[in-house]
Amino acid sequence: GAIDKAGHRHFMAKEIAEQPEVLSHALTYYLDPCDGRRQLEAELDFSGIDRIVMVACGTASLACFVSKYWFEQIAGLPVEVDIASEFRYREPPLNARTLALFVSQSGETADTLAALRYCRGRAGKIVSIVNAAESSIARESDLALPILAGPEIGVASTKAFSCQLVVLAAMALQAARQTGTIDAGEDSRLSGLLRQVPGQVSAALALAPRVQAVSAQLARHADVLFLGRGPFYPIALEGALKLKEISYIHAEGYAAGELKHGPIALIDEEMPVVVLAPSGPLFDKVLSNIQEVLARAGKVVLVSDAEGLAAAGEGLWQTIEMPAIEGPFAAIAYVVPMQQLAYHTAVEKGTDVDQPRNLAKSVTVE
Ligand code: G6P
Repeated sequence: GAIDKAGHRHFMAKEIAEQPEVLSHALTYYLDPCDGRRQLEAELDFSGIDRIVMVACGTASLACFVSKYWFEQIAGLPVEVDIASEFRYREPPLNARTLALFVSQSGETADTLAALRYCRGRAGKIVSIVNAAESSIARESDLALPILAGPEIGVASTKAFSCQLVVLAAMALQAARQTGTIDAGEDSRLSGLLRQVPGQVSAALALAPRVQAVSAQLARHADVLFLGRGPFYPIALEGALKLKEISYIHAEGYAAGELKHGPIALIDEEMPVVVLAPSGPLFDKVLSNIQEVLARAGKVVLVSDAEGLAAAGEGLWQTIEMPAIEGPFAAIAYVVPMQQLAYHTAVEKGTDVDQPRNLAKSVTVE
């Protein structure tokens, strides 16, 4: 049929590998003067909008969470991110200046759809970002933006997540252009950085043998902690979510700065701590968190670039060296080692990667 594993052992492996290609398509569509860009410019008016409320479930909600950093820092727009099952029963106040944004791979998730219906008549505009263009969420939105990822079969979402991220990034740039928080020079600098994402994702994919070696170690543990700061914090949450979904290892993601407010009590030589920390302004902050873990005999897996790894020095348990990536969209490529860590750990443990127990691809009942 049209959808097969194309030589891969699992759909998840195929979908991870496809990312450079599908991300390039999505970026062409939203950054070049073709349909997506025209749609953004013609139909998305941020001028009367003073906040964005983003609602989703699962991995899609983590894509929203990453983009909060972009909308706030690049476009100066306040963003609230909500889980659909919480949002829909809380009766949150909305008004005509609120843009309600729904992100869903399937476009059919019951809680997300119910949250959208709550916003009808209350929010100024209802926008969705979907993979399934012919879906309930797309149909009921004022504007539905496709992520162009192609069919995603693996229950654990991979390429849909990264495509959601580039569409959200393109949308944040559009918001910044309209609200005037960036000038033409900054616009082309940031657009240029966004266009580099598929190449960065390719470079990250090439780290598979190293990630596989780390996975063989992780597979022997019962609990794993993931830490990050800034947009790498929701990527850490996504790393933990992927690992627990398909390898059944208990995993938690935390903001690195919260380490001392709880999870540090769990640190011992039995619990690996995966730290996402590229070199840059927040690196020293994360480094002090790493030292707190090392001082308690913790096993640190540091995912960083050459500069960060050199600065971290001795004592790390495992390292994964990412390429050096400049700018606000660096977090996107860091999801690749998270996906591969989960994938190879699950394969190592022999679990059902594409159909993990108890999970469904599309949750159409509450
Ligand atoms: C299920 C899937 C997840 C997905 C979530 C939201 O739990 O197993 O992979 O992230 O639903 O699905 P959606 O289709 O709305 O993105």
